[in-house]
Amino acid sequence: MLMLKKLWVVITSEINNANSIEILDKLKIKYLGKNGIFNNYMRNLKNFSFEEKKEYSIIINRIKKKTISKIYEKKIELNKSILKKRIENEKIDISLPGRRFENGSIHPINHTINCIKNFFYQLGFQSVNGFEIEDEYHNFDALNMPKNHPARDSHDTFWLDKNRLLRTQTSTMQIRIMKLEKPPMRFIFPGKVYRNDYDSTHTPMFHQIEGLIVEKNINFSHLKWIIYNFIYNYFNKKVVLRFRPSYFPFTTPSAEVDIMTDSKKWLEILGCGMVHPLVLKNVNINSNVYSACAFGLGVERMTMLRYGISDIRTFFENDLRFIKQFKYI
Ligand code: DAH
Repeated sequence: MLMLKKLWVVITSEINNANSIEILDKLKIKYLGKNGIFNNYMRNLKNFSFEEKKEYSIIINRIKKKTISKIYEKKIELNKSILKKRIENEKIDISLPGRRFENGSIHPINHTINCIKNFFYQLGFQSVNGFEIEDEYHNFDALNMPKNHPARDSHDTFWLDKNRLLRTQTSTMQIRIMKLEKPPMRFIFPGKVYRNDYDSTHTPMFHQIEGLIVEKNINFSHLKWIIYNFIYNYFNKKVVLRFRPSYFPFTTPSAEVDIMTDSKKWLEILGCGMVHPLVLKNVNINSNVYSACAFGLGVERMTMLRYGISDIRTFFENDLRFIKQFKYI
């Protein structure tokens, strides 16, 4: 009896100390296996009297049952702590901020082009992009600027060969589209143009938007109406502006439009006029039936005015500190 009592003490301490499933499994075999301690006890009972056998076997079976359930409970406990450790090890720190992608944004020049396009779309204009490599005919001759015409000098042209050049103005598209389409027509031509010039107000590449309307009875008052509305819309307020008589070989009459800046100075923002009858003749449009008006503006200048930018070169230096200031929704 005493021995058996001691056995339970040993079993409990051994099971309590088992700190892994492997050790517990070994204990299970040691006590409950075929050749385990309990079976040995039972086998040894054969040497005892009937009464003793009865008494001891009851006790042995009781301890055996207790051992089974103790091992079972210990196994649950061990599995729990194993799971707990695993969860702790595999823990994801969800408070850590994710790695962000750098979002790009629309370049201010493209943004201005989009704004201007959207205004003219509302008036039924279509937008067409043209070639940046042009020939002398479309860039100059057909626009009433024949060889030796003094107006050519102001264009500082990049010539590619005797005939081909990087276009100096989007007005080339007037010729191309009027040859291609039948009136009535309303177009804008946004795009890059090139002139060999570089300082705080000039870059060798810049952007223009050309406008062209060819219709019956179109006259200068229509042109004025469109330009007034366009400028008010673009600056989102009634800026003071004036039409100043000017000269362009391909329009007559011609004008330049100035706006009054905050510092009360006139600043030129675009050129415009009624398309010259000689130009219409060059594209086989009868100027007795149709008339046409046109305008051309510099996108960089418009953008600089809107955002108070003083050096045109900042647009193209790709300095992210500059570009990132322009976030449009
Ligand atoms: N092409 C001219 C330039 O680059 C701008 C211009 C003036 C365009 C008058 C026009 C216009 O369509 O009518 O200086």
